[in-house]
Amino acid sequence: MSDTATLAAPKIPPAPAGVAKKVRIPHLLQMKRDGRPIVMLTAYDAPTAKIADEGAIDVILVGDSVGMTVHGFETTLPVTMEMMILHTQAVARGAKRALIVADLPFMSYQLGPEQTLANAGRLLAEGGAAAVKLESVNEATLPSIRTIVEAGIPCMGHIGLTPQAIHALGGYRVQGRTEDHAERLIDLAKKIEVAGAFGIVLEMMPSALAARITGAIQIPTFGIGAGSACDGQVLVLHDLLGITENPPRFAKKYVDFRAGMLRAVRKYGRDVREQLFPTTEHEIP
Ligand code: KIV
Repeated sequence: MSDTATLAAPKIPPAPAGVAKKVRIPHLLQMKRDGRPIVMLTAYDAPTAKIADEGAIDVILVGDSVGMTVHGFETTLPVTMEMMILHTQAVARGAKRALIVADLPFMSYQLGPEQTLANAGRLLAEGGAAAVKLESVNEATLPSIRTIVEAGIPCMGHIGLTPQAIHALGGYRVQGRTEDHAERLIDLAKKIEVAGAFGIVLEMMPSALAARITGAIQIPTFGIGAGSACDGQVLVLHDLLGITENPPRFAKKYVDFRAGMLRAVRKYGRDVREQLFPTTEHEIP
């Protein structure tokens, strides 16, 4: 089967009724109430954002995972505000329908509400995002969430495995396995909702815990390695496309782009070496 045929295989669901033109935060809250799953995907550049948009993705996350997927870092820690603004600008040029959420990178909000407000504002004003996301290991981020929401900047939370705290967490491990930790995460989710967030990413936790959190709050949850009970799902684009070399176990590869790209690059190399490219059809007369 050709790569094009493989790509054509998954059926793209139509844009949800009533949100065809432009996805906005109230639509997401309504989708949770209606029990309609919300689709979120990362993108980091204009062409892939345009494809995500055409594929009826509801929320595009300009994730700080860009540091690993695109820039080749081992963790998300080296990602800067400048990188996030640049990638958010590119995504905003490509996507017109999806809600664009941009990640606040490591050390762009940990100093407190004032720093969070300044940087969240930049992601909207300079980057063109409609909302920001920040990671919470504990309650320390709550005043920052409250401050930016009061300033009119929509905020998404992120709990469970929070990759910016990778060293403190001791690795990419499932979170909330003990009842004590599970209860702390449920409590944190409730507090993030009260602080004014419009949604929360739940990363790498037992499905039963994600279901408890989803049932305990009125704002939508977006699961990644958190099972099917969440209100929406989020995947990293490079995992979905099969570009990531060692994707996490919970990710689903919908197409094997890496194999296809490797084949194409090798074929190009062979063609040049054997003088099969360019031919007259590619030459400028
Ligand atoms: O940066 C990112 O891509 C994320 C997702 C894993 C939710 O935060």
